[in-house]
Amino acid sequence: MRETTRDFTRYYNPELHGELRLDTNTNVLGSNPAAEKYLRENSWNLNGYPNTYSDGLRQALAELYGLETDNIIAGNGSDEMLDVVFKTFTNMGDNSVVPVPSYTLYDYFVKLNGGKVNEVDLTEDFQLDVDGIVRSDAKVAIMPSPNNPTGNCFRRKDIEEILSRFDGIVVVDEAYTEYADESFVRRVEEFDNLIVLRTFSKAYAMAALRIGYAVTNKSLADMMLCVKIPYSLNMVSEGAAIAAVKDQEFIRRSVAMVKEQRPKLDAGLRKLGFETFPSDSNFILARSPVDHKVLVDGLKQRGVLIRDFGAKRRTENCVRTTVGTEKDNRLLLEKAEEVISGCR
Ligand SMILES: Cc1ncc(COP(=O)(O)O)c(C=O)c1O
Repeated sequence: MRETTRDFTRYYNPELHGELRLDTNTNVLGSNPAAEKYLRENSWNLNGYPNTYSDGLRQALAELYGLETDNIIAGNGSDEMLDVVFKTFTNMGDNSVVPVPSYTLYDYFVKLNGGKVNEVDLTEDFQLDVDGIVRSDAKVAIMPSPNNPTGNCFRRKDIEEILSRFDGIVVVDEAYTEYADESFVRRVEEFDNLIVLRTFSKAYAMAALRIGYAVTNKSLADMMLCVKIPYSLNMVSEGAAIAAVKDQEFIRRSVAMVKEQRPKLDAGLRKLGFETFPSDSNFILARSPVDHKVLVDGLKQRGVLIRDFGAKRRTENCVRTTVGTEKDNRLLLEKAEEVISGCR
């Protein structure tokens, strides 16, 4: 096995028995209705290749943001875009800056591409250590805002400062940005080093179809397009994504539901003894009042899946749960209370 990947282990792949899934931060309202309608009403010539670079979707997104098609790269989930970033901008052995805690797969994509990870811890209140990042001898600095798993946005002025002082590519991963009020997506031509990543897997409710994209200035976009695997976004997913972009009402409704339910879930968790952290996204990180593993396993036995971060540095004894519908959250809180009282 290749030396740089020998210590890899398999990714999260829970055995499912019909549990309520609050572990992946997808949209709890269910499949995207415009995408579903598109799939119901269309058929495809399966013998033909999709458009090489998903030009139809790139055009629809350019219209949505007031940008040009050549500002956008589309592919098989934002995970593919992460891979393309490191493939395009790092050489074997180069460092990339990854904040701790943040998205677990950053580490994987850096190493997959022969790079090394420079971990820079977030501050006590889970904000960026701007000086630590800027001082890093690295080619790429990556940060999700809102951050996964902590849920909060990073301060805009901190990201702007990193963009101006860091000597390399800055990737702002906006997987959950629909739930927050801020985005860098319309500002990509202002900077020579900004790449914004977006996904159809979360608020758009289309994780099954695997669609993500990067937005950047035309010069960096061209480099990434040359590296990306041609045809990596299939024709069916591309069509469904174009349909979904045109139905912004569903996104507004989904975000409104999260904003209504989030404070109620937060209060419910606190009442059970959890320490919760402020969230700008569709999930909440919370420190469990009982052992994290006992809680997550106990909830799974009772039909509710949440994600365990309790064994990781900086999120000791913490779990992360998606904000569900009123009914989902009630079930989660009820089952959590059962597990917690069983520990006393
Ligand atoms: C911060 C962040 N970035 C990227 C992704 C991956 O998204 P996709 O499904 O588009 O590959 C996730 C998924 O959980 C995420 O949390």
